[in-house]
Amino acid sequence: MKTLSGIQPSGQLHIGNYFGMMQPMIQSMDRDELYVFIVDLHALTSVQDRERLAKGTMNAALDFLALGLDPERCIFWVQSDVPEVTELTWILSTLTPMGLLERCHSYKDKVAKGLSPSHGLFSYPVLMAADILLYQAERVPVGKDQKQHLEVARDIAIKFNATFGDTFVLPEPVINANLATVPGLDGQKMSKSYGNTIDIFQTAKELKKAVMAIQTDSTPVEEPKDPEKCNLFNIFKLFAPADRLAEVRGRYLNGGAAYGRIKLELVDLLWEFFAPARARREQLAADLGYVREVLRQGGIRAREKAIVTLDLARERVGLRY
Ligand code: ADP
Ligand code: TRP
Repeated sequence: MKTLSGIQPSGQLHIGNYFGMMQPMIQSMDRDELYVFIVDLHALTSVQDRERLAKGTMNAALDFLALGLDPERCIFWVQSDVPEVTELTWILSTLTPMGLLERCHSYKDKVAKGLSPSHGLFSYPVLMAADILLYQAERVPVGKDQKQHLEVARDIAIKFNATFGDTFVLPEPVINANLATVPGLDGQKMSKSYGNTIDIFQTAKELKKAVMAIQTDSTPVEEPKDPEKCNLFNIFKLFAPADRLAEVRGRYLNGGAAYGRIKLELVDLLWEFFAPARARREQLAADLGYVREVLRQGGIRAREKAIVTLDLARERVGLRY
């Protein structure tokens, strides 16, 4: 199966991103023909700061490679290294109904949050459709918030195929409903926009500070409590080995679960869990030339695929003489 997904290079990755998106993607490397890219052209709609965008792109690349994405077993690149995507965006935009874009929640939400209502922000879903259709992707794993954008991509593909003849594969969204949302420090969904995250790559001191700030109730230690309702337990269970988890669960149910001690244990577990990735990230960060080369090679491979589809689309619409 051809599987494709993109991530915006904005901000630090947290354990919610890891369990919700990166880990499943990395695990699918052996099963799928995998396409992973950093969408810097999309990020331009919200980041207008040269340094921040360039650093964000490099950081996202370091994070993915450090966490185990193997560029030999997938195609990993930066969106803007394949300029064909912008040409396809234009072709698609000429048959995208205004009403389809006007209905998109994401545009309205972003404007409500204070982003400038530019034409690029408005047509963001068309660029995303071009991302997907250019590689003839069959499956696109995304979070729930991106479901509507996937529907837009399908609608555009359907319209193109009906107007000009079969050209694009219709992509299916893959939204993993079984995958529990990782809770944040305050028990809401962990999200960088809520400021309630535990970041993957941070110093030991910062990590301890974040874990100590996980909100818990004031039930006395000796009283029994429901582990599934405890925010701390729900994060703890992502990292604890089975025997340790069973023991702590028992303490919750029978009394004796001391939040402070569990938090300290969680700090150690988290630190150990990401230790190999942290070491790899340090090595990679010391050799940015290598990382740039990986991305450049990925761009070349992605472009080879992109050119085939763009050629077909050009021919279908009559950009030939
Ligand atoms: P954020 O909410 O921090 O801005 P993004 O919207 O950039 O995160 O999400 C990037 C990816 O990580 C998406 O695929 C999304 O589904 C996943 N993700 C984000 N937060 C969580 C979470 N708390 N639990 C599970 N998956 C998450
Ligand atoms: N819009 C997606 C997000 O904000 C990122 C994205 C851009 C994407 N192009 C894509 C995701 C293509 C999947 C496929 O998360």
